[in-house]
Amino acid sequence: MSDDYLHLNLFTMDAVEHVSVGSWRYPGDASARYADRDYWTEVARTAERGGFDAVFFADVRGVYDVYAESADPAIERAVQTPSNDPAYVVPAMAEVTDDLGFAVTKSTSYNHPYQLAREFSTLDHTTDGRIAFNVVTSYLESAAANLGLEGRMEHDERYDRADEFMDVVYALWEDSWEDDAVVRDRESGRYTDPEKVHAIEHDGDYFSVPGPHGCEPSPQRSPVIYQAGSSDRGREFAAKHAEGVFVSQPNEQAVVDYMDDLRERAAGYGRDPDALNFFPGIVPIVAPTEELAEAKRASYEEHIDVEGVLTLLSGFTDIDLSELDPDQKLEHVETQAMQGVVNAFTTNDEHEWTVREMAEFAGLGTTSPVVVGTGEQVADELERWYTDLGVDGFNVKEVVRPDDLTAFVDLVVPELRERGLLPDADERESGLTLRERMTGDARLPDDHPARQ
Ligand SMILES: Cc1cc2nc3c(=O)[nH]c(=O)nc-3n(C[C@H](O)[C@H](O)[C@H](O)COP(=O)(O)O)c2cc1C
Repeated sequence: MSDDYLHLNLFTMDAVEHVSVGSWRYPGDASARYADRDYWTEVARTAERGGFDAVFFADVRGVYDVYAESADPAIERAVQTPSNDPAYVVPAMAEVTDDLGFAVTKSTSYNHPYQLAREFSTLDHTTDGRIAFNVVTSYLESAAANLGLEGRMEHDERYDRADEFMDVVYALWEDSWEDDAVVRDRESGRYTDPEKVHAIEHDGDYFSVPGPHGCEPSPQRSPVIYQAGSSDRGREFAAKHAEGVFVSQPNEQAVVDYMDDLRERAAGYGRDPDALNFFPGIVPIVAPTEELAEAKRASYEEHIDVEGVLTLLSGFTDIDLSELDPDQKLEHVETQAMQGVVNAFTTNDEHEWTVREMAEFAGLGTTSPVVVGTGEQVADELERWYTDLGVDGFNVKEVVRPDDLTAFVDLVVPELRERGLLPDADERESGLTLRERMTGDARLPDDHPARQ
């Protein structure tokens, strides 16, 4: 990381329900305003006020139709459907902020790299270099059918395609246009020097892209790369490509083991292991007193939509949880969807989870720890993870939106600033790209595969 500060992202989705299913019914919750531009500009202003690095947008292709073999529960309960494409609210959010970054999730299985490279270059230009790409391979079978494909690719093959996808976008972003290719010489009428714009001549197993890139270099060239894979193949991918890693493990030891494992794998790719920045998700429930915070948690729990949670988890795991006895113990299976989620509740935790326990645990934020208390107590816990476990920051998940963000900014952020864990608002450097804020460097380091 660039400094001695911890780094905050807001983890959200341009949808009614993201990972705390049922919360849209909570009094005062604004999730149903997700399609309203004002909702997102307010979120952006609050996150910037709280010194957040970025708003991190999850996104999904397809509908959650594994539970009860039907899309109806997901549609009825707004489980990530309806949702909008997050890339299109980013310019509005960038317009009302100066320093906030935006991580946009896009799938390497259902996009074409030539097209995606153009979209991210455009966003990077439009936001003055405040963009990250959360690289996902997608997990729902229903996405493939809607895109005219015969079926979802197998889990590990999706990562093979993703590797080649990244080769193409890196070549377009990093190698196609030299820094001084654009000359803008009005007198000669020469805008660009064609000698300094290069074809990439990619011809691989999945893609054939001659190039050149259609956009001139944007402030960051490659956006900041985020990844969250946690299966064996997913870890290889994250270790090779990620600058930011979204950690989702069931207990503290598993978090430490995961980080150690990824650092070791990154070294195997010739990368500096410290170039990987780890962000566990957390669900802060914060109030002026401990009693109020506990009361808030209790009332949040009353609003958990258990069937909606099971619908979401069935999609994550590819297991129809409607068929299982709620008191049945979960067993490890090799899923074609998110292997990391299955592992989290089986092989990565000593506790033997039942279906019911998993649904109750996942009701608030799905796979992240819930931290309840005063601003001081929540800051204590974040400081402990930052200092003792060595994480670089946190992806903050709201249950009730945007009240949990506002409470975090009003109660926890001042504590973090007081302790020197976040810069004071007037000390925060302005005009940086997201990568500069995160890592201190404008460009991807030379040992990253994009620069090889
Ligand atoms: C915390 C977390 C957040 C994720 N967010 C998304 C997302 O927004 N969209 C998506 O398609 N996949 C998302 N994923 C899925 C991963 O990117 C990955 O594709 C999936 O976990 C399958 O890989 P694995 O089997 O290696 O874990 C997320 C995974 C985790 C653990």
